[in-house]
Formats: sequence, C-alpha cells, structure tokens
Amino acid sequence: MEREGVQERMHSSRRTAVSGDDAENEESDDESKTKKTVAFSTRFINFVSRYGLLWPCLAFTFIVVLFTSSVVFYTRSLVCVSSSSSGFFQPHSRFAFFGFDGLDSDFGSLGVPWCRSKHGKSVEWTSKDLISGLEEFIPIYETRPIKNNMFGMGFDHSFGLWFIARWLKPDLMIESGAFKGHSTWVLRQAMPYTRIISVTPRHPEKYLKKGPAYVDQNCTYFAGKDFVDFGNVDWKSVMKKHGVTDLSRVLIFFDDHQSELKRLKQALKAGFRHIVFEDNYDTGTGDHYSLRQICDQSYIRGGGHSCFKESDEARVRAKRKPFWEKALDINELCGPGESWWGVRGYMRDDFNHSNKLISYSEHFQNSRFVESILDVFWEVPPVAGPSLTHQTRYDPARSVPPIVEDGRYNLFQRLGLGRLETSVFNGYTQMVYVQISEPES
Ligand SMILES: C[S@@+](CC[C@H](N)C(=O)[O-])C[C@H]1O[C@@H](n2cnc3c(N)ncnc32)[C@H](O)[C@@H]1O
Repeated sequence: MEREGVQERMHSSRRTAVSGDDAENEESDDESKTKKTVAFSTRFINFVSRYGLLWPCLAFTFIVVLFTSSVVFYTRSLVCVSSSSSGFFQPHSRFAFFGFDGLDSDFGSLGVPWCRSKHGKSVEWTSKDLISGLEEFIPIYETRPIKNNMFGMGFDHSFGLWFIARWLKPDLMIESGAFKGHSTWVLRQAMPYTRIISVTPRHPEKYLKKGPAYVDQNCTYFAGKDFVDFGNVDWKSVMKKHGVTDLSRVLIFFDDHQSELKRLKQALKAGFRHIVFEDNYDTGTGDHYSLRQICDQSYIRGGGHSCFKESDEARVRAKRKPFWEKALDINELCGPGESWWGVRGYMRDDFNHSNKLISYSEHFQNSRFVESILDVFWEVPPVAGPSLTHQTRYDPARSVPPIVEDGRYNLFQRLGLGRLETSVFNGYTQMVYVQISEPES
C-alpha cells in the first residue's frame, strides 16, 4: 500500500517531537542558574571560614530527608488512582503492583499470548511513529461528535484504528458494527476522502433522535432494512460497484462481537487481507471467540494455563484480582474438566447469544488454522500505563507494554493525554491488527 505520504508526515511530526525534547533539555542549561551558583559558592566559602561545617552538614541532611519524603509522597499520589472501591476490587492499594512488590513491571508479568505469523513478519511502524501519531491524534479526538461513547470505543482503540488506517491508506474501508457512528468518524478522520462501507443492523441516524451520533456523507450503509451480515454480502459485486480491483487495498474493521474465527474465514474467502478486530478479548472474558483466545496455547510464550489451585499462576492471579476489575482468578478462568480455553471451554459467538462447548483438540486445531493464514499479528498497545491514565479495568500483566510507559509523566502531559477525562482510557480490550493470506501448500 502507498505509505510515502504518511511516512513523510510521520517524519515531520517526529522532528517536532524531538525538538520538544530539546526544548526541555535547553531549560536545564539556563545561563542565569550558572550565575547564581557562582555567587552562592563565594558566599558559602565565606560562611564556612566564619562558622565551621556543623551548620552546613545539618542543613544538607535536612534537605536530603525532605527530598526523599517528597519523592515517596509524589510516587504514591501517582499510583493511588481511584476513589471507587466495590466488593473485592481495591484500587486504593494498586500501588503495590508498581515495582514495590518485586515485579519489575506489570506488563506481561502474567503472560501475553499472541498469534504466530507464518514468517514472523511484524508491522513497519515503530514506537516513535506511535508517539508522533498520538501527538497528532489527541487534538482530533477532542473534536469528536460523540463525547460519551459508552459501549463503543474509548481513546486507546480510537487511536489504534486511526493510526492503522492512516498508515495503510486503503482505497476502501469496511466496518462491521457501527453503533452511533464513532468508529465511522475515526475512519473518516484518518482518510478524509476514502469511501466507507458500514454494515450495522441499526442505522446510526436513528440514534440522532436521542443525542449525538455520526452519519457520514461518503459512506454506503448496509443498515436498517438494507442490513446484510458481513458473511452474506456479495463482496465481489460490491467491490466491482466501487471500482476496487485490488482487495489488498481494503481495510476491514470488525466491531460486531462475532466469533473472530468465523469473521477471519469469511474475510479470507472474500479475498481481503487487512483486518482490525476491535475486541481481542483475553482468555476467559468477552462475548465472542477472539484471536487471543484462539492462540492462547502452551507453546506460545505467555500462553496456556494451569487450573491447578496450588500453581504459581493461581497464586499470581489471586493476588492481582482485587486490583483490576477485569482480572480473573483461577476459579473464574477454569470451567468443568479444567477447561480454560475460550471462555471456560466455550467458543462464544454473536454477543454470546450463541456458544458451543469445544474440546481442547478442537481449540488447538483452530489455532493451527489461524496461524496458517496469518502474515502479521499486532496488538495495539494501551496508550499509557495505568499510573498515568488511572485506568482501573484491565490487568496490565495481560497486556503488551504501553506506548507511554509508567513514570513518563512529562511525555504524557506534553502529548496532551492529561487533558482527556480518565473514563476514555477504561475501554482497552487488546484491539488487534492482522494481515492474512491463503495457507501455503
Ligand atoms: C460495540 S458496538 C460498535 C461500536 C462502534 N464501533 C463504536 O466504536 O462506537 C457493536 C455494534 O454491532 C452491531 N451488530 C450486531 N450484530 C451485528 C452484525 N451481525 N453485523 C454487524 N454489526 C452488528 C450492534 O448493533 C452494535 O451497533
């Protein structure tokens, strides 16, 4: 796909970010501070020659004690993050997990399953590109028409979708599951003139009667009486109608809570290559079978589970559960017969309106199939660590490292993330971007 334009923009905004860092460094080279030091040193020598070293030593000790206690207080205030505390969930003590309990980092400490791609290929963008993208996207996000998008995407996923669409620059974007239209709006911000096809049972215009919604003028809606499920659309004729000949220049976005295995097979059959799944639910959670669930196998680093109650995993999970709303302990993870795959051994579909008990070997075969068609698998990272965003829902031990890591408060503020309300960071569910192609024979 054509990327030069984006890369150039990324480079120019990267230069801005670098010059921002330079500006911070320049502050510490402030000339006036050097002048003050010279005057102070002269006075200090005069003082010592007159009164001796006892008072300077006492003053120095006092400053060290004051500095240490203020650092401890500041760090605690950064990580004691929420006032709400219901039932088992105790966010007020979450600071125990930020390095004070011997874990180097929360991120991935429990294990982050991922899908192996056929040739180990990864995405082209780097964390620097993501940071430049954030700098650009935050002011755009602040102009969103739907401020409260409960049940839809929050900030992390909005950024991920915008970034991917902008990087790939597709000729056509298809979304399945639009709700009030926030994700349509995000796609539009990424690609102002590109056609969108939105497949969703209820037309977003219906929501306009009750409050904010977004209806796009350059979008074909398969909605209301025109609704057809993605799997039943005649994509060949739709592509022809829109003049699309190269299906590798189409981006598909699924936020329709259907089994991702089902959607993957349908997309592959139609010949599509680039797909974003909004909710790549963690094992044991969510209302549909996700890629993360499918690929959660013991041969993957961070994958596979033990339902043994005395295991290390059981102990770590029990310890973490009180701190994160969506964290599971081993009792919740494991169903009858020690079935942990999918959700307690079930393959869920269609908002969990349908679900099917599957054996471990069926689950394993599913992962083999997925890996046979995967060219790229990339989970969108959370935008920032929980001590910065104050998110209280997902357990960072089951997530990839964030773009802005805990402790990088200045960067968080400089990017403008501090201007957003805390609630927009609470919806992260491991959105994933994949590239697929037919299995090799
Ligand atoms: C979580 S919402 C989508 C949120 C939206 N993408 C956003 O960011 O605001 C899920 C949507 O999927 C729609 N939906 C349900 N079944 C569907 C299907 N088979 N195909 C497409 N959309 C479906 C629902 O009506 C709902 O609007």
